[in-house]
Amino acid sequence: MANTILVGAQWGDEGKGKIIDVLTEQADYVVRTQGGNNAGHTVFIGTQKYVLHLVPSGILRPEKKCVIGNGVVVDPISLLHEMDGLIKLGIKIDGNFFISETAHLVFPYHRELDEQRELMKGEHKIGTTKRGIGPAYGDKAARTGIRLIDLINPERFEPLLRRRIRENNDVLRALGAKPLSFKKVHAQYRAAGDRLRPHVANTVVMLNQATARGEDILFEGAQGTFLDIDHGTYPFVTSSSTTAGGACTGSGVPPHRMDRVVGVMKAYTTRVGEGPLPTENAEVADMLHAMGREFGATTGRPRRCGWFDAVATRHASMINGIDQLAITNLDGLDSLGTIKVCVSYQDGATRHDYVPSDAVTLGACRPVYAEFRGWQTPTGEIRTWKKLPLRCRQYLKAISELSGAELMIASVGPAREQTIFL
Ligand code: IMP
Repeated sequence: MANTILVGAQWGDEGKGKIIDVLTEQADYVVRTQGGNNAGHTVFIGTQKYVLHLVPSGILRPEKKCVIGNGVVVDPISLLHEMDGLIKLGIKIDGNFFISETAHLVFPYHRELDEQRELMKGEHKIGTTKRGIGPAYGDKAARTGIRLIDLINPERFEPLLRRRIRENNDVLRALGAKPLSFKKVHAQYRAAGDRLRPHVANTVVMLNQATARGEDILFEGAQGTFLDIDHGTYPFVTSSSTTAGGACTGSGVPPHRMDRVVGVMKAYTTRVGEGPLPTENAEVADMLHAMGREFGATTGRPRRCGWFDAVATRHASMINGIDQLAITNLDGLDSLGTIKVCVSYQDGATRHDYVPSDAVTLGACRPVYAEFRGWQTPTGEIRTWKKLPLRCRQYLKAISELSGAELMIASVGPAREQTIFL
């Protein structure tokens, strides 16, 4: 398979978990490189549903090695909870699961600050997952973060945490929030550190050595292109590099060792949280929600929904260098008589073929649509390209071409077997 970077080409929730699970078959390592437990990757095996937040989706295949890279922010309590859940389900996490010693940690003060800052923003809130992700990356950039390597060295950890709790308690008090008990947090994190210690490794060397041996790595992106801290609809973004470049900095594997980029996109568009979504459409949302679809895997929030936005996916292909596409949730459109696709944006007299750089301009853009006739046939049981209805194939070809990349996979349902390879 060679080294593959998998990215979300929209606003997250593109169905990456399932595609990662399918591609993992050909990989030796599966690596998370950014984000934290704000992510929610859903994978179905048979009727069993797994929702993974921090542990790479590759963990569901026992012969694969899974790595949380240096670019991820790790909430150790949440991670242990997830690991315990996997153990309970009989999934092996011993000897096949590693966490970078330089990954930064999320603490309760990060979560509390996330909440308080959202409250202060009022109607200008971002709609974060309140998992403390932004404040944890903020500490990393401010050089005040605490890393896993500190946690597993108790004599180093104690003074670092003491100082950080003191400083953050001053801020929390000023915001009218409850201060944290150093003793409680320290005891809880020390215990977590002891349990995580066997999994902590120098994953930068581990992954580069694997690459040198010719082993294949799948870099599992979290969130999506338009939630990227640099390239997303700032400030309505997450705090990490969700685009392809983030796989290099978040793992320590250099760009010239990457062989291909796979972009995952839904056959329509969704977004959770605030910020512009040019193709947002109430009828599409009502239809999908009535089917029980498009509720957040991490927060349970109903997702905002709209028509496929080819301006966004074209832009995503450009930034990420997407070679191949996986288009998911195709079956969500099965009942429609007419399907719309946004081919450009109109902003007064200006036409945009790529996503404008600022959220205000994007918010003022009106989508220009092309219309396709729907196939109005259930696709969930179809397993080959040739058996897909002609109109469905035409739709897939059109949105791939508009997005500027080659179609590799069409997904017609959440299960592994509901996957059509071209
Ligand atoms: P944060 O990452 O919790 O700071 O949230 C920032 C924005 O990113 C919010 O709009 C969230 O809804 C969105 N977001 C974060 N993680 C995900 C994800 O995994 N899927 C979809 N949206 C996400």
